[in-house]
Amino acid sequence: MSSPSNLPFSGHVAIVTGAGSGIGRATALALAQAGANVLGVGRRKDALDETARAHANIEVLSVNLVDDGAPAQVVATAVERWGRLDLLVNNAGGTAVMPLAEADKQVIADLFHLNVVVPSMLAHEALPHLRTSSGSIVNVSSTYGHRPMAGGSHYSATKAAIEQMTRSWALELAAEGIRVNCVAPGPTRTDVMLAAGLTPEAVNDMYAYEQARIPTHRIADVDDIAHWILRMAEPAGRQATGQVITVDGGLELI
Ligand SMILES: NC(=O)c1ccc[n+]([C@@H]2O[C@H](COP(=O)([O-])OP(=O)(O)OC[C@H]3O[C@@H](n4cnc5c(N)ncnc54)[C@H](OP(=O)(O)O)[C@@H]3O)[C@@H](O)[C@H]2O)c1
Repeated sequence: MSSPSNLPFSGHVAIVTGAGSGIGRATALALAQAGANVLGVGRRKDALDETARAHANIEVLSVNLVDDGAPAQVVATAVERWGRLDLLVNNAGGTAVMPLAEADKQVIADLFHLNVVVPSMLAHEALPHLRTSSGSIVNVSSTYGHRPMAGGSHYSATKAAIEQMTRSWALELAAEGIRVNCVAPGPTRTDVMLAAGLTPEAVNDMYAYEQARIPTHRIADVDDIAHWILRMAEPAGRQATGQVITVDGGLELI
């Protein structure tokens, strides 16, 4: 579908991982509304199809990103479909509530694979195309990528890794015209804790606890986060690279 040429992402092609739900779905939709053609990626076909139905500029690919060859398949799909790639949003991720006393080698390895290895290989595969388009990467971290999280040390460590990779890739790629930035959400109402195995009651308790602590006393909704992902990616933001913007109602300040 063609878009009016005055939109900020008009003519651009974006990949958004984790686009079947939560922050990823909101980001895919916001990018499409801002003129981009979007490839939304995730495992659940039905969830992705629901995202695609929200805007004609969104197409989807159902794939498990931890599978061998998946990052290359994702990038090839976007480039074969639209002939270019301008933006990679590394949003898909997982979390685990796991105190040190319960540390499990496989859980740690799986978290690092999904939250660190997958975005790295997607960025690697995207690189030749981002060089051509002077494109950009937006990684999704967390407030807990730069503050401690009792009971969530390994999740926190994966997000610290993506923040540090953001800075290093930004420095490495700046001279080639590629920008790399990161959005670090605070508590945001999505299914991420349910996906990590918490009961709905435990999730509600967690949000109530966080809402009381957050200086603005507000849990983010997904559009609050998508807004900043677009701001970091849009061409008018061209002077910002290597930055981590925290969107958490002031939680990181306390
Ligand atoms: N919600 C919060 O409070 C919060 C706070 C800070 C940071 N974040 C970060 O925000 C990002 C998005 O999370 P969310 O809150 O929007 O939760 P979410 O709705 O659970 O989104 C996670 C997405 O990742 C996809 N995904 C997970 N494993 C995958 C795999 N192996 N292959 C392909 N896709 C996979 C999921 O889709 P499928 O299950 O269909 O594969 C899902 O759409 C994550 O990186 C998370 O760490 C969230």
